[in-house]
Amino acid sequence: MELKNIMVTGNLGYIGNVLVPILAEAGYNVVGYDIGYYDDCLLLPTEQKLAKQIKKDIRDVTVEDLKGIDCVLHLAGLSNDPLGELNESLTEDINYKGTIKLAECAKEAGVKRFIFTSSQSVYGISDTTKEIDEAGKKNPITAYAKAKWNSECVLHDMCSDDFTIAYLRPATAYGASPNQRLDIVFNQFVAYAFVENRIEIKSDGAPWRPMTHVKDICAAFLACIKAPKELIRNEAFNVGTSDNNFTVRMLAETAQKYVPGTSLTFTGEHTDSRSYRVSSEKILTRLADYYQPEWNIEKGADELMNHYKEIGLDEEIFKGWKCTRLKCIKKKVDEGVLDTELRMVEK
Ligand SMILES: NC(=O)c1ccc[n+]([C@@H]2O[C@H](COP(=O)([O-])OP(=O)(O)OC[C@H]3O[C@@H](n4cnc5c(N)ncnc54)[C@H](O)[C@@H]3O)[C@@H](O)[C@H]2O)c1
Repeated sequence: MELKNIMVTGNLGYIGNVLVPILAEAGYNVVGYDIGYYDDCLLLPTEQKLAKQIKKDIRDVTVEDLKGIDCVLHLAGLSNDPLGELNESLTEDINYKGTIKLAECAKEAGVKRFIFTSSQSVYGISDTTKEIDEAGKKNPITAYAKAKWNSECVLHDMCSDDFTIAYLRPATAYGASPNQRLDIVFNQFVAYAFVENRIEIKSDGAPWRPMTHVKDICAAFLACIKAPKELIRNEAFNVGTSDNNFTVRMLAETAQKYVPGTSLTFTGEHTDSRSYRVSSEKILTRLADYYQPEWNIEKGADELMNHYKEIGLDEEIFKGWKCTRLKCIKKKVDEGVLDTELRMVEK
């Protein structure tokens, strides 16, 4: 195993809590790096077997933190548009400047690979008559999307023979995690059906939304560790399946199917301008020997139902702060656990 020591930043979040056990199971030594914004949001015990946990802000990373690491999987950051809009300069500091600083430290420390978690938000509103691929026009609109795209552009010039960089652009994730998010669309629809027996959609349900299961996202990270560097060097990959595009209506109807008696209404009061279809053909062909996705939304709905039963999902959890990133951050700022720069306040 050439790349043995893997650092996962953001390991204590939604994807990280699924990713680390998969890496450990595959035999890698994993070092976690995370500030721990959502530490107290766990609804199930975490199963992370780590060589080390670094509890630190990504803005304060040093070369020392990366000594001995072969490959960095960088997931840490403010993870969605509403969080990004909380304070645009913070999103830039954490998601963009934090990323570049981490990459600079990694390069100096002799890390061989750096896999950056970008996002399909870099495409912005797109033409839904065709699926957009990695070379498609970039139109980052939100602070979150701009930070992802600006990071990709700067990292592009840092990539070298000894320092391989690749960019994963996952579709919106769905699926179970010990640190569950219910602020992402399919997880939320299944939760509505499960808790309230009704799904109310503010739009007409027509916008397209690409989706990827969290474990398929983890499979893409694993593929980027295993594949020869020539296949991934300075390459961006949409992460999904051959059938990853759904309208909001299709997602809601699938969630409805799994909870008998669930009603479905489309109020049409909001017209959501975001609508896009994405092609995952590149990762499915170029990394075919390393990436074989295994999930679809039916299987995912089934998994989520079992997960929601296990965690005892009820109205209090669903409408509370633990599974919605923005609510959690705001609560911690209000309580003085975080300052307005989202730095941990020393006790
Ligand atoms: N979940 C999705 O649908 C999705 C889709 C595409 C891309 N992504 C990207 O994947 C990554 C992980 O997403 P997630 O859903 O697991 O998010 P998450 O919010 O659950 O986890 C993010 C983690 O990063 C940590 N973090 C945030 N700011 C930090 C800082 N300043 N220093 C150190 N750690 C910090 C948080 O404590 C948290 O544990 C993010 O970069 C996100 O943009 C997610």
